[in-house]
Amino acid sequence: MAYRDVYKSWQDDPEGFWMKAADAIDWDTPPSKALFDDKAPLYEWYRDARVNTCFNALDRHVVAGRGDQVAIIYDSPMTNTISEITYADLLTRVASLAGALKAKGITKGDRVIIYMPMVPEALEAMLACARLGAIHSVVFGGFAANELAVRIDDATPKAIVAASCGLEPGRVIHYKPLLDGAIYLATHKPEFCVVYQREQEVAELTEGRDVDWNDFQNGVEPADCVPVEGTHPAYILYTSGTTGAPKGVVRPTAGHLVALHWTMKSIYNVDPGDVFWAASDVGWVVGHSYICYGPLIHGNTTVVFEGKPVGTPDAGTFWRVIEQHKVKSFFTAPTAFRAVKREDPKGELIKEYDLSHLDQIYLAGERADPDTIEWMQDKLGKPVYDHWWQTETGYTIAGNPVGIEPMPVKLGSPTVAMPGYNVHILDDGGHQLPTGELGAIAVKLPLPPGTLPTLWNAEDRFVKSYLHTFPGYYETGDAGMIDEDGYLYIMARTDDVINVAGHRLSTGGMEEVLAAHPDVAECAVIGVTDQLKGQLPVGFVCLNKGTETSHEDVVRGCVKLVRDKIGPVAAFKLCTVVDRLPKTRSGKILRATMVKISDGADFKMPATIDDPAILDEIREALKSLGYAGG
Ligand code: COA
Ligand code: AMP
Repeated sequence: MAYRDVYKSWQDDPEGFWMKAADAIDWDTPPSKALFDDKAPLYEWYRDARVNTCFNALDRHVVAGRGDQVAIIYDSPMTNTISEITYADLLTRVASLAGALKAKGITKGDRVIIYMPMVPEALEAMLACARLGAIHSVVFGGFAANELAVRIDDATPKAIVAASCGLEPGRVIHYKPLLDGAIYLATHKPEFCVVYQREQEVAELTEGRDVDWNDFQNGVEPADCVPVEGTHPAYILYTSGTTGAPKGVVRPTAGHLVALHWTMKSIYNVDPGDVFWAASDVGWVVGHSYICYGPLIHGNTTVVFEGKPVGTPDAGTFWRVIEQHKVKSFFTAPTAFRAVKREDPKGELIKEYDLSHLDQIYLAGERADPDTIEWMQDKLGKPVYDHWWQTETGYTIAGNPVGIEPMPVKLGSPTVAMPGYNVHILDDGGHQLPTGELGAIAVKLPLPPGTLPTLWNAEDRFVKSYLHTFPGYYETGDAGMIDEDGYLYIMARTDDVINVAGHRLSTGGMEEVLAAHPDVAECAVIGVTDQLKGQLPVGFVCLNKGTETSHEDVVRGCVKLVRDKIGPVAAFKLCTVVDRLPKTRSGKILRATMVKISDGADFKMPATIDDPAILDEIREALKSLGYAGG
């Protein structure tokens, strides 16, 4: 069947489509039906099924005789390590860790925070939780203690599984002080922490609270899989919204299994046994879906890569890994390729490697700029597919269904809506816009299986954030258009979320941090276009009257504050003091206009602007930072 036939088969019979997809999963109790709509607009999938994620990711492959197949290739240029773990080994390790967690009282529904770098043990911890029906929440290592504390208070974990350190080029990230700091800051205290001691740094354990990863597992019985309801949360993953309080996206177990399995062939075009590599981090949704769960559920070999696209040791790292491990499908963020392109514009390093096993490359996480795609197509001679999705959905909303039928690539478009997604472009009033017109991108409810059913402990916020603006639709927070061939174009966010090096960040969250600086009276943070990272945050601060601190010191203090409170991942290094901020007469800061000035784009003077002269001051401030033509 061609893509349009498959999409139509879903439109004609969504229930049949998703029940058929569910056949790929090993159920303890199979679902009697797919969709439960009795609580609409809150929908549930496979509610009456019982299933275990870990069983589907590990045990069933071993039972089927594939235990000797490599499940995880760990490739770490940071530590000069390459190792492999078979499905049988991984099962033994995960069952042992789950047994130890169980012996310490972790049971179904308990939350466990995982704070680990890109090591196989991070995946083992995720799978061990899944084995017990415990709900994990992985926190990215680039966040500061304060962000970890916020997540501890929201998820109220019984345990935290952490590593002693992470490794960034040129520096060791000491996880233990960050962990201790976060637990100190948090109101909720975990009962215990398990610390995986890495060779690069052995952390001092806190007596009475911390247990060593190995000691912890000594002499315990391996744990069996605990079947859970289809709607049971598999995990919580926090993501940026418009405020400093992150949104705890909940992933429902059964839909997650069915949908991810479906994507592995239909989108990523791999068969069980093939090597699949997503160069991301387990702390992000890409890491959850396509470093850990998707490939393992589908019986692929996944690559856990601890390194960067450049500098570890050079811009040929990607090609070395692809050659050495015979990667068939490769997925990363466009920013990673921009970094490679900048270091090796002629693609000289590409020629040193045999990429014959690589069939295609996928990009997501931010807008894929046509220049980068063209460079990749030219230098690699392989198809490059952009696809669009979000933490909330957990997998592709619009993409190129290569395993069904490769669609012609249109530069600038992530291609077409996947089955399950009925995508519309709406105006502010919720009316459908004609083909080619720019508007808010919304998806008609229900969203397909595996997408977020709610936010953790925050159903009201879920409804308000996503279902309120356009009744009957899910509001994606992205703006864009659909062309005459049904191709979607993602142009911008409609909220204060920015995308820095493929990482989703909240300018509102940064403003909250800056506002807490003792000399700052008011502030605005905008995302300006950056050649490498896509966007970079820029802060504008107005000082309190009579402040004696120098502007340089305020700026330095603001940069430090964001790094300390949010973390290095915010990449907040550009900040400037201004007298005033441009506002409407009703006091709304004109951030979008500031972005246009920075990017040198045309803009219409907002009719409601209080004092147009301020825009010249903003232009000058941006010029002094190297933007707005400066
Ligand atoms: N733990 C601790 N610190 C981290 C971290 C982690 N896991 N990841 C990043 N950081 C730090 C970096 O060291 C850097 O610190 P610095 O300000 O002291 O230099 C800061 O956070 C910003 O990181 P980043 O924006 O990633 O910039 P970079 O210069 O280190 O690397 C790229 C730039 C483009 C090479 C890198 O961002 C990249 O590979 N991106 C891929 C994107 C990706 O995986 N996205 C996930 C969705 S697909
Ligand atoms: P995250 O939840 O971190 O995956 O970020 C999701 C957001 O990143 C989306 O809402 C978009 O704004 C942006 N994004 C992700 N993929 C793409 C893409 N292929 N093209 C344009 N923007 C994208």
